[in-house]
Amino acid sequence: MNNLSETVRRITGAESVVLGDVIQSLWSGYGVIQRATLHGTERPSDDSAMPVVIKHIDISRARANPRGWAGDLSHQRKVRSYQVEKSFYEDFSERCNLRCQVPKFIAADELGDEGGWVIVMADLNFQGLDSRKSHVEQQEIHACLDWLANFHATFMGNSATGLWPIGTYWHLETRPDELGAMPEDRLKNCAGLIDRRLNEATYQSLVHGDAKVANFCFSESDPDRVAAVDFQYVGRGCGMKDVAYFISSCISDEAAARHQESLLDFYFEQLQVALSGRNSAIHFPDLECEWRELYSYAWADFCRFLAGWSPGHWKLNSYSQQITQSVLDNIDQS
Ligand SMILES: Nc1ncnc2c1ncn2[C@@H]1O[C@H](COP(=O)(O)OP(=O)(O)O)[C@@H](O)[C@H]1O
Ligand SMILES: [Mg+2]
Repeated sequence: MNNLSETVRRITGAESVVLGDVIQSLWSGYGVIQRATLHGTERPSDDSAMPVVIKHIDISRARANPRGWAGDLSHQRKVRSYQVEKSFYEDFSERCNLRCQVPKFIAADELGDEGGWVIVMADLNFQGLDSRKSHVEQQEIHACLDWLANFHATFMGNSATGLWPIGTYWHLETRPDELGAMPEDRLKNCAGLIDRRLNEATYQSLVHGDAKVANFCFSESDPDRVAAVDFQYVGRGCGMKDVAYFISSCISDEAAARHQESLLDFYFEQLQVALSGRNSAIHFPDLECEWRELYSYAWADFCRFLAGWSPGHWKLNSYSQQITQSVLDNIDQS
């Protein structure tokens, strides 16, 4: 029997597991994200077939890779990212309601002998969230910002135990190679300051950490509904990191400049509603004031990563350059 289906059967308690389509291969083929159907689970439902998605990383194969392992920072970052994703589904995902929907967690396991991880979650495609988009209109952009606002409200003040102490895949401390590769300029000199400013913000929540439009699942019948996947870089942080990065993933520089204020207004309205629904003791005007100022810092922080990782990247455009320059000017004046 296939090892993966046997593992999934064991951890879910299903009578049988039928593997389906591979969605994509992960991490140079060391893992896979794949559909499956569980049969004979204890779920009280009329037909007992449960559609799931399995995320499986076989770390023993990654370790066998002769091309540098122990000293390879990017491998270590990846390994940690899968542990973090498993922790998120096990210990945090249940707190996400339909306003910041995530796949329902079913089971996960860390495999023996450093074998890797398996995460089993509900298949969102069977919940009407079967559309993926690279081009989005205002209604979908708002749906994603609403998701982010609700996610940030849900985890406001959370200490991120078991997740990244500082979220996002481009966080400075985890990217020394990219910092080294940057041209010797003001942004490089200010990288630590920008990072510190974000980390020392009074208001911290959990950030998704890779909230690009490709990690949102949309519904054709209800454009206000979205769910997010891919929690490998979730950790503590200022919500502006997700907002800036999300905008960078789906809006042209010209549109980002033109709509910056209205998008932020929308996000903060949703955040306020979401927080008030939680009887939060937070003084909202203080939070909004702090985070609005940090929006530019979040952009500058992301541009710092891009400038080392992929200097000619299309996201290093007039809008992001101008916003980064405004942060550098601000630092000069303080
Ligand atoms: N629970 C799920 N239900 C439906 N589709 C999913 C689910 N989890 C992942 N996917 C799809 O698989 C894609 C890849 O998963 P993801 O976790 O983002 O892997 P990667 O780390 O390679 O980006 C997602 O963009 C999404 O389209
Ligand atoms: Mg993804």
